[in-house]
Amino acid sequence: MKGLILSGGRGTRLRPLTYTRAKQLIPVANKPILFYGIEAIVKAGINEIGIIVGDTKEEVKAAAGDGSRFGCKITYIEQDEPLGLAHAVMVAEPFLKDDRFVMYLGDNIIRDGINELVGQFIENKPNSQILLARVSNPSQFGVAELNGNLIVRLEEKPKKPRSDLALVGVYMFDSNVFKAVHSIKPSWRGELEITDAISWLIEKGYAVEPYIIKGWWKDTGKLEDLLEANRIILDMIDCECKVKLEGGSRLEGKVAVEEGAVIENSVVRGPAVIGAGANVSNSYIGPFTSVGPGAKVVNSEIEHSILLDDSEVSDIAGRITDSLIGRAAKVTRSAGTPRALSFMLGDQSEATLL
Ligand code: DAU
Repeated sequence: MKGLILSGGRGTRLRPLTYTRAKQLIPVANKPILFYGIEAIVKAGINEIGIIVGDTKEEVKAAAGDGSRFGCKITYIEQDEPLGLAHAVMVAEPFLKDDRFVMYLGDNIIRDGINELVGQFIENKPNSQILLARVSNPSQFGVAELNGNLIVRLEEKPKKPRSDLALVGVYMFDSNVFKAVHSIKPSWRGELEITDAISWLIEKGYAVEPYIIKGWWKDTGKLEDLLEANRIILDMIDCECKVKLEGGSRLEGKVAVEEGAVIENSVVRGPAVIGAGANVSNSYIGPFTSVGPGAKVVNSEIEHSILLDDSEVSDIAGRITDSLIGRAAKVTRSAGTPRALSFMLGDQSEATLL
């Protein structure tokens, strides 16, 4: 069996971060989202993985490399335009050949992995198996209607969903899916939809089985989803502090501190992670916060937030919460007069003030 991870697309809902970076490389608990997918596939016993890449291909290649660090072999497959998930399957055909495969959307995180699902697919050998989960906002997903264990209908982002069962971004197929992706037409949004390809398989009488997951999962398409993913994943980290704390600092609860970080005169209340070479000084880092490598927090308080590499928060009076601070972005206080707010925010940035 092979793995296919989709890491192309444009990531418009996460601008401005995605102006300069692939959305699948935004870190959750200081690890790129994409890596959770690679690790889940490898854990399920699959070690040949194809990654679909688009405009951000160089960055994705530089991050994941040849796969040896994950114990797998990665092949990069270029998709010239993000023309849909079924289009991605089409361009991956020469890599996948006749093998059965698991397709994993590179912006999804499934907390409990995919071992059980892959095991069931290998054992029962249906033509396809799709992962479903009950959600409160089904119209933002592909939605499945079931009759017992039979899938009656699938619809992509329906205005009036017929059920609360959303398609999670993990699908399994045998090579019959290629007939499907070559037979369907683009949808109203101009994409070749994987939901239409699966519907085609169902209509033609192929065996498509549902698998309903109970555990936590997230499509990290928006800021609040990223913060939630950060919260859930941080709750699972191993506490390990690789440095000596300085000047009366304290770690409370689950905290991981990477090499070269400096923590002085500060309190870090976990779950939290402090990246390599980060600097936390005279500050409070509250629960569910990831401080990226090289980031600086000085004379400030921050919680339930993600600070990307080399960002800086210093001398801020109020506590910062529910925030995502981009790479090398700075939030500081002006020393002199006039006592005024001053910004340089990139396109589509957001700042919420007291
Ligand atoms: O997350 C689950 C949902 O994912 C499902 O419920 C939907 O049925 C499914 O269509 C998909 O919806 P999204 O709108 O969230 O898909 P998105 O455009 O975000 O693409 C998902 C991943 O695939 C993302 O990592 C980008 C990548 N991608 C996307 C397209 C359209 C590609 O690599 N190539 C593409 O052409």
